Amino acid sequence: MIIGSKIILRDKRLADVPDDYTWRTDPELAQLDAAPLVATTFQKYLSDYTSQLRYPSSTRHQFAIETLDGKHIGNCAYYGVNETKGEAELGIMIGNRDCWDKGYGADVVTTLVNYIFHQTNLNRLYLKTLDSNRRAQKCFQKCGFTSYGHLVKDGFSFVLMETHRKQWEKEQTKT
Ligand SMILES: CC(C)(COP(=O)(O)OP(=O)(O)OC[C@H]1O[C@@H](n2cnc3c(N)ncnc32)[C@H](O)[C@@H]1OP(=O)(O)O)[C@@H](O)C(=O)NCCC(=O)NCCS
Repeated sequence: MIIGSKIILRDKRLADVPDDYTWRTDPELAQLDAAPLVATTFQKYLSDYTSQLRYPSSTRHQFAIETLDGKHIGNCAYYGVNETKGEAELGIMIGNRDCWDKGYGADVVTTLVNYIFHQTNLNRLYLKTLDSNRRAQKCFQKCGFTSYGHLVKDGFSFVLMETHRKQWEKEQTKT
């Protein structure tokens, strides 16, 4: 369990399936994330989920996001871990709309970045978000991510953002 100021990051568990299925079949969330809408049945989703929990990937680490009083509000992950390049991609989704714009996202990202730079040898974390998703960009900027380019893929236009260990270390010495 990883504890932030407003949230807790914990391992995913089977009890998360109903929330995750609801969020992954929500058209607005899929659009904001430029992600495909899950079109499978709940039973199939549950079966795939069970295998993922049983056989976790070594290059993908995912966490459930809970408020401090234990409400499951979303998920985050670092994935595409490349030990040779010393980098990984970050992802976050707060499915519970009541929790948007209240600083949860920034606390999740800050907590996850702190965890990764403390617990791994990775030096660079990067992510992409839609050009149109100003909320997400603002959230990542608050956590020290800066834009390093643009990408057009599958008809979507993304801002590419990154943060580096050196920059993070500098920030640590200020606090
Ligand atoms: C993107 C997301 C992770 C951000 O988390 P969050 O808890 O809402 O973010 P925070 O409250 O920490 O920060 C959001 C900031 O954006 C600002 N904001 C909101 N809408 C905005 C807009 N249209 N333009 C500019 N800024 C905006 C907020 O005011 C806040 O800034 P502030 O703290 O200075 O007031 C979360 O909203 C989410 O998961 N949304 C749904 C899915 C999604 O967008 N996925 C894509 C992720 S890449």
